[in-house]
Parts: sequence; C-alpha cells; structure tokens
Amino acid sequence: MEKICVIGLGYIGLPLAGLLANNGFNVHGVDNNVKIVATINNGGPHIQESGLDILVKTAIQNGHLVAALQPVPADVFIIAVPSLITEKHLPDLKHIQEAIHSIAPHLTPGNLIILETTVPVGTTEKIAGWISELRRDLYLSQLPAPAAPLPGATEKQIFLAHCPERVLPGQILKELMENDRIIGGINQLSGEKARAFYQKFVSGGLLLTDARTAELTKLAENSFRDVNIALANELSYICDKFGINVWELIKLANRHPRVNIHQPGPGVGGHCITKDPWFIIDAAPDESKIIRAAREINDNRTNYVAARVKEKAACFKNPVIACLGLSYKANTGDLRESPALRIVQQLIQETVGQFLIVEPHLKTLPECLTQLNSVQLVNLQEALPQADLVILLVNHNAFQNIDHKLLKNKVVIDTRGTWRQ
Ligand SMILES: NC(=O)c1ccc[n+]([C@@H]2O[C@H](COP(=O)([O-])OP(=O)(O)OC[C@H]3O[C@@H](n4cnc5c(N)ncnc54)[C@H](O)[C@@H]3O)[C@@H](O)[C@H]2O)c1
Repeated sequence: MEKICVIGLGYIGLPLAGLLANNGFNVHGVDNNVKIVATINNGGPHIQESGLDILVKTAIQNGHLVAALQPVPADVFIIAVPSLITEKHLPDLKHIQEAIHSIAPHLTPGNLIILETTVPVGTTEKIAGWISELRRDLYLSQLPAPAAPLPGATEKQIFLAHCPERVLPGQILKELMENDRIIGGINQLSGEKARAFYQKFVSGGLLLTDARTAELTKLAENSFRDVNIALANELSYICDKFGINVWELIKLANRHPRVNIHQPGPGVGGHCITKDPWFIIDAAPDESKIIRAAREINDNRTNYVAARVKEKAACFKNPVIACLGLSYKANTGDLRESPALRIVQQLIQETVGQFLIVEPHLKTLPECLTQLNSVQLVNLQEALPQADLVILLVNHNAFQNIDHKLLKNKVVIDTRGTWRQ
C-alpha cells in the first residue's frame, strides 16, 4: 500500500488525509499541535466540515490514518501547512520552511513532494534549494537528472510539484475529488509523477504546467475575486451618492450575458483572499496597482460599516445593538480574518452601546470579545425584541427568512443585502 505523509492537519490537510486513507492509501498525518494530533487519533476532527467526522473516524478505526507530531519515511509527502503575511503584508513562509526541515531526513530516492499551500511566485524553487542544501545525497533540480557528470543521479532523484488547493470550505470533500487541479512540476517528470498520483482519486481535470505558473495561477484566482468584490463595494459608495439601491443595480447588470459582478459586503475575510493578493503586491508592486487598490478598498470596508453604525447609534441614549453573525462567511463558525468580528470588536471598544451577538454557529464568544464589557451571546429570539439597532453582518441561512415585523421601528443596517425587498 502506498504510504502518504501529510504535513499540516488543518482545513486542507485533514480532509485530504481522510480522503486518501479511505481510498486505499496508508496515511501518516503530521501536525505540530499536540491537541490536534490527540483529537484526530481519538477519531474526532478538530474542525467543522461536512462529512469529515465519519471519514476521519473510519480511517482511524481501520488503521489507515494515524496522526503524529513527526513525519516518517513515505512515498509521497504533501505539505498543507499555512503560508502567512506579516502585519506589514510581507510573505512569511516559516511554517513551510519548518515542514521541509522536518521531512528532509526521511526523504529517499523516488519520493514525490507536493506543496498544496498557496505561496508567492518562486517558492517551489526555493524549496528545491532548501532540500538540495539539506540532502546533498539526493538529486532535485529544475532540469531533468543528467546522465553525466553526476553518475547515478537518476536513481537518486526526488520529485517536487506545486499543486495549489482550490477547495471551498463547506464542500471540501466533494471539491477535493471533483475540482480541476493545476500541477506545476519543478521539472517535467515531477509534474507527471504528481499527475499520476492525483489520477488515483481525482475525477477533475489535471492540468500540467511549470511551478511558477501554478503559483501565480492560484494567486490570480484569489486576486480576481478580491478585485471583483472591491468593484461591488465601490459601486455601493457610488450608489449611495445617487440614492440608488446597489443590490438591484448589480442584479440588473448581471443580466448582461458577459457580466458577473460579485456582491458588496462588510469586507473580505477568511484565511486566503485576505492574504494571497499581497504575495503578488509584494513581489510586483509597480505592476499590481488594481490588486493593491482592491485590497485597500475591501480592508477599509469594516471602518465604513462601523462608522455607519456609530452614526445611527448616536440617535439613542443607551442603544442596544444586535449584531447578526460573527464568522467570515455564511453557514460556518470560522472566524479567521472575519470582517464581522473586526466591526463588532471596534464598536465594543469604542463603547457605542450594549451588544447582543447572534452567531448560531458558535457555542461561546471568542476570547477577544469576552474580555470586553457590554457583550452577550444570545439567540435571535432574545436579541430582536430588545434591540434598537439590528446589524446584519453575515448572511447565514438562519437569518434569511426572519419575520420582518420583528424589525419594525428598528434601525436596520443590512451589510449583505439579505433582507432587500
Ligand atoms: N482553508 C482554505 O479554505 C484553503 C483553501 C485553499 C488553499 N488553502 C491553502 O492551504 C494552506 C493551509 O490552510 P488550512 O486552512 O488548512 O490551514 P490551517 O491553519 O487550518 O491548518 C494548518 C495546520 O498546519 C499545522 N502546522 C503548521 N506548521 C506545521 C509544521 N511545521 N508541521 C506540522 N504541522 C504544522 C497547524 O498546526 C495547523 O493545524 C493555507 O495557508 C492556504 O495557502 C487553504
């Protein structure tokens, strides 16, 4: 049975490890977080994702998946640790570097290393350099192994490819199998080896290219979404100026067969879109003016929403403000880079009023809010009758069909256009 070592058991690595373990592979999952390793070995995923609990439980029970703190020798190593940006929006690849250092002693000739993490252009080449430094006995080059002057290079060759992950949280397991994949080999043979691996469990297209193109393709995808949302946000300012309903405007514009404007909102959140465009901006600042402008427009959106709430709250003596939703997107409790959370935090810090938070996907408030006064986690039925202002921040299904009579005589700020008539 082919042995796969997956490094990083988060939103990407754990579903992938579970899927592989249920598709005939022997999977050794690695995470440097002791709690995560213990939770997985007890059969429970540490993240919420549709279908993941049963997949992980089955794989652990039948012994095809084991979680550990350290890698072991394997046939294929998959890197799914995070890439980060610093406060100054510079790339931080420390987790990837640590992961490479941890697998280096276990590499043997013929191994395939796949980097699934989204990275700046040139990172796969950097990884090849790190590995070559750490393991001078192995051959890893952008060029095919030469017959001479390095005798035996072919037998000592290892393979490296970047295959950026494109799944959508909420439907990760389906998309892991069905999405088309971009495979950028550090050389032709590496790409082909990676394609042969994915062919065993992916039904989507497997598209071969070079590593740099694969890296930039993923960054371009997320920048496209960021720019499109920034356009929608900018249109909402323009519509406000003319007294036009932006939601109706976009609905009508999108009836054009070649127009697809995204929706405005309280800002852009999540682990990926808030980070990935900065990898392009950092490396090509003069060439990425639209990408930078989009990042700034979307980042400033939370200040705009907070200012609107403050303006409306000023009409009340001691306003009770119901905030509906905290997560970064609908129907999840994922708070990573959530604009809703940022808005609520800012308003509470500025003591704008009493806050009732409704977040059906959380059992408790996050620590950054519990440290603050004037805030309670309540359900929708408790929040609405007491509230002077109702701020819809996340378009969870639970908020779609509320009785509009409950909003009568309240100031409503609907940042998602969910309740537009
Ligand atoms: N989450 C998504 O929706 C998504 C979608 C597409 C691509 N990606 C890419 O995948 C990357 C990983 O995303 P994620 O959401 O799975 O992150 P995550 O934070 O959920 O999981 C990463 C895991 O890696 C572990 N880790 C960090 N350094 C490690 C090391 N040196 N050795 C072992 N384990 C280590 C962490 O403890 C964590 O559990 C992202 O940075 C992004 O580039 C994510």
